[in-house]
Amino acid sequence: MRSVSIIGVGLTSFGEHWGKSFRELIAEAGILAIAGCNLEGKDIEAIYGGCMASGRFIGQEHIGALIADQLGVTPIPATRVEAACASGGVALRSGYLAVASGAHDIVAVGGIEKMTEVSTEQAGFALGGAGDQETELFHGATFPSLYALMARKHMKEFGTTEEQMAACAVKNHKNALLNPNAQFHREVSIEDVMKSGYVASPLKLLDCSPITDGAAAVILCETKKARKLCKNPVEIIASTQASDSLALTGRKSLTEMLATKIAAKQAYEHAKLKPKDIDFAEVHDCFTIAEIFAIEDLGFFKKGEGGKATEAGKTGLNGEIPINTSGGLKGKGHPVGATGVAQAVEAFLQLNNAAEKRQVKNANIGLTHNVGGSGATAVVHIYKKIGGKK
Ligand code: COA
Repeated sequence: MRSVSIIGVGLTSFGEHWGKSFRELIAEAGILAIAGCNLEGKDIEAIYGGCMASGRFIGQEHIGALIADQLGVTPIPATRVEAACASGGVALRSGYLAVASGAHDIVAVGGIEKMTEVSTEQAGFALGGAGDQETELFHGATFPSLYALMARKHMKEFGTTEEQMAACAVKNHKNALLNPNAQFHREVSIEDVMKSGYVASPLKLLDCSPITDGAAAVILCETKKARKLCKNPVEIIASTQASDSLALTGRKSLTEMLATKIAAKQAYEHAKLKPKDIDFAEVHDCFTIAEIFAIEDLGFFKKGEGGKATEAGKTGLNGEIPINTSGGLKGKGHPVGATGVAQAVEAFLQLNNAAEKRQVKNANIGLTHNVGGSGATAVVHIYKKIGGKK
């Protein structure tokens, strides 16, 4: 397999985009990424586009061809990738494999979702399709309630508290304040989170990621060529993916995500690294409890210790392991198909010392973690600053 690097990134602002269409959002991110590495559309050999539910959100399918058409790069192969909220991460892995295998030298990976055209109820139903229709959604179990069940079990087994979960939201809103592209630019306190209304007990409004429009793109290139095209390429040193039962009823445990643990183990093996070698991570915090699961399952903290570690500030910008410097899904927003690609954008910025006020000092190695549904898909990528230490 050949080495693969990111040479350009593009991101739209995240939020409610009443004035921009789906096509305009993906074109904005794509053009920013292509122009960012001084390439032109004709240099792109293939496109992989992550998108979860555009049919339900805006009545549009056939997203691969739509992206190629909108960017003016037809007739190259352009493929939509769907893996629920992990669509972006799996698209990134698909692009990575295409370059690593030698099938292509330069590919564009995009991620997009436009979720605010429908009501919250309709969005909840569309997102519910990521779970099991027969045993979950049909009975009214949408995603806040599935994660609420996991939160209750974690609280019972490890003594995790609602205040500890709230600490994730407080940190991620604080980080989002430093990210101009984030959906929310307002600080929240533990008290604000605790006082916000229950969506699915114990999860409250401020424990939830929001409904978001946005798009992200990265350009991948074979590393030898990347060095000639880009001053500071970022190498992807591991790209792994695992799956698990679609429904919670099929899980061995409700206090861990096995797919995350397996993808992470393989990623550390490929990269020849350990969790302690990671300088920062963007993890899938669709709900605050999901961040606690992630930091435990990725090996940053022991099982059951994630809530306490967050409360103690260990995952803050200047903590032991900064988590979700971008603001995460909670503060930056969660346009589901775009999220996994947006995480890679943050890793590129951090490793290029370009994350401005949220820059992690001496960042050489970063990790991104993207989950589909309640944990049925997990994707992990590890990135290295070329020429950096470790
Ligand atoms: N975090 C912080 N603030 C939020 C928010 C969130 N998740 N969602 C909405 N808000 C704010 C809005 O900005 C608005 O503020 P304003 O009154 O100052 O303008 C206010 O809360 C009401 O917003 P509204 O859009 O009416 O909220 P809602 O009740 O329709 O939706 C949720 C709130 C939590 C139900 C919705 O965001 C949701 O379903 N989130 C989960 C999404 C999800 O499941 N993703 C997939 C994960 S696997």
